[in-house]
Amino acid sequence: MYRIAAAAKPSQRPLVRCVSTTFNSHGGTGSASSLEGYTPPTTSPANDMIAQLAAKHLDRLSLKDLIRFGRPPLSTQSLLTSARFTREYLPVRLSRRIRALRNLPYIIVSNPNISTIYNNYIDSLSAILAFPAGSLTSLTEESKFTELLTEIVNTHSNTIPTLAKGFLECRGYTTPGEATKFLDHHLRARIGTRLMAEQHIGLHLASVPQPPTVSVPGKSYIGTVDTELRPAEIIESCASFVGDICELRYGARPKLTIDGNPDITFPYIPVHLEYIITELLKNAFRATIEANSPVPIIVTIAAAPGPPDAGGITIRIRDQGGGIAPDDLGHIWSYSFSTFNGSRSSIGSGNSGHLEGVDDGAPDGGMDAMGRFTESAGALEPSSIAGLGYGLPMSRAYAQYFGGSLKVQSAYEWGTDVYLRLKGVGLDGL
Ligand SMILES: Nc1ncnc2c1ncn2[C@@H]1O[C@H](COP(=O)(O)OP(=O)(O)OP(=O)(O)O)[C@@H](O)[C@H]1O
Ligand SMILES: [Mg+2]
Repeated sequence: MYRIAAAAKPSQRPLVRCVSTTFNSHGGTGSASSLEGYTPPTTSPANDMIAQLAAKHLDRLSLKDLIRFGRPPLSTQSLLTSARFTREYLPVRLSRRIRALRNLPYIIVSNPNISTIYNNYIDSLSAILAFPAGSLTSLTEESKFTELLTEIVNTHSNTIPTLAKGFLECRGYTTPGEATKFLDHHLRARIGTRLMAEQHIGLHLASVPQPPTVSVPGKSYIGTVDTELRPAEIIESCASFVGDICELRYGARPKLTIDGNPDITFPYIPVHLEYIITELLKNAFRATIEANSPVPIIVTIAAAPGPPDAGGITIRIRDQGGGIAPDDLGHIWSYSFSTFNGSRSSIGSGNSGHLEGVDDGAPDGGMDAMGRFTESAGALEPSSIAGLGYGLPMSRAYAQYFGGSLKVQSAYEWGTDVYLRLKGVGLDGL
């Protein structure tokens, strides 16, 4: 199995604020050296093992699967079953990511940023395969395994900005269509991989007594799923966060009102909703400020009829920030398409940094995607208002992961409506 050399050190900023992945099974903080009795791997998994694992059948992860063990604290038996399931299927998911990266043209996978990601997957797979599956018969072993999962989750927290930078550096070797196809598939699959590990970590934290310094999920949580998630609360906190970014960047904070049914609760994964709402509000706030519009952004929350797993909720975000130019509308779901700072650019668009076939309306001083990345020291960090054009495609990937949808309607020179639909999950018997 080959590793790829020349890996550059990625920055350490996580993109998504995720569930607390710091835990302690015995009172200390998790680190490789604390995995007593665990021998870290010295060799990489063989090529044919990766091929075999990647070829294994994998069921799509559903919200129902995530809550199947019921409300924590789980019995020792259920916690061990969850650990064994994760030990069996996480290697399959990691192997598939490795296979997908290896199928990229060599010139792309040997880029320092992309090879960093590739090598992280190899290291994580080696680490998890080195943990003997048969040893997951006691809480002590389960705790060590969870500690390993925590490390793996933390190792991969910076994947998106690193991949984005790598693909930008490789523009010219790929087309926007090919890059978007790879990224879309890869980043969607990554949602499931992370979730599988985070779900077990969350169940562990709520089932095994933790010292007071460790933050454990609230009573309404089943792992990563909050069975009483109140979207209005997340919208309010994201609006305050995005408002702060606007104050810093523009010295202005648009108004936002929530109407419809703000008291609705439904079962969902808060970090997913938080990611989506932050990205959609960043777009709406930026458009409102740049259009100099005094009109508040209106967020409407509505429950769809039927049980949560059939109906769920709809959130509409309406702004009067001028809408999206018809020429741009066909590109907004491409990874890396952005009009930030007066440019219109995308990966794979050559050295000019402008999309082929798109009238370049960038005023003097507009910058290409790499320039935007460099300007904001990694524009995908959560504290930038816009940057590399990952907000919409990533939000749609999150929304669709559990059968929801994300749709954008623009009235050019007026404003934009974004419809987010999410399905919950039935809680009968829980
Ligand atoms: N509410 C909106 N009003 C006007 N234009 C929008 C709106 N939402 C999205 N857009 C357009 O779609 C483009 C792509 O949006 P997207 O969120 O994917 O990327 P970005 O905001 O440029 O960067 P990022 O979200 O990665 O920080 C934006 O650059 C902007 O031109
Ligand atoms: Mg955005």
